[in-house]
Amino acid sequence: MTNHDGLPVAAAFRPSAYTAAVLRQLLERRVFLKDASVLDIGCGCGILLAGAGEMGATSLCGVDIEPAAVNEARRLLTGPGAARFAGAHKEVLQGSLFEPVAGRTFDVILANLPHFPMDHVPIEERLATWSSGGDDGRRLLDPVIDGIGAHLVPGGWALIAHNAFIGLDATRERAAAQGLEARVVDTILVPLEPRKLAWMTAEVLEREIGRTIHRFADHVFAEVAVLHLRHLASGTAA
Ligand SMILES: C[S@@+](CC[C@H](N)C(=O)[O-])C[C@H]1O[C@@H](n2cnc3c(N)ncnc32)[C@H](O)[C@@H]1O
Repeated sequence: MTNHDGLPVAAAFRPSAYTAAVLRQLLERRVFLKDASVLDIGCGCGILLAGAGEMGATSLCGVDIEPAAVNEARRLLTGPGAARFAGAHKEVLQGSLFEPVAGRTFDVILANLPHFPMDHVPIEERLATWSSGGDDGRRLLDPVIDGIGAHLVPGGWALIAHNAFIGLDATRERAAAQGLEARVVDTILVPLEPRKLAWMTAEVLEREIGRTIHRFADHVFAEVAVLHLRHLASGTAA
């Protein structure tokens, strides 16, 4: 089974630079993961949950819209590589965003969701949901920001991978309207391959080139932030 890029499906679930940036921030906060409950929205292969499990979280819940991702995450979280956190409670649910966990709260919420500003492109064998965030890139990001507060325990926190070129200020304002503080805790540069540049909504590219998107000779890179969110009144040090 191959995807749009001709890669085997399992290869399509490989962690990206975005995944790594979120994992790095989890490592910074590993002391707060001991015995924590963690929700990963758009869990893909489940790697962020595996990282949280390795760092001491004892309840791991993943949600993904794509059945192949759900299978892959179940496999990863129960396979030999997960032996060190075999005792953790694990569940991987199929559905959209917070729907499968309605009414539930968690200590930590993670999200590395599709938020690339482009229309859906057909992706063979898989849903067209791997990358596309709609014209402005915010199709999934905005409902996630709106839903986080209700799904965090008091003192809980969230980490979100966030393309800078879709508007960090808009996210901060939206978070504040929900009673959340959103703080950039890391910024990395990721290469933007020509194929993705061609897909990007033209207005976003025009607006952001030289700001959060940088061209060096024939290559283009984009800034990606990791956002830390918590309730404004929260006393957590995480
Ligand atoms: C870029 S991948 C990231 C996977 C993984 N979190 C990681 O960091 O490697 C985004 C994931 O979000 C999932 N996704 C897309 N739309 C979704 C939705 N509405 N609800 C839940 N998951 C969704 C995709 O199927 C995909 O597995």
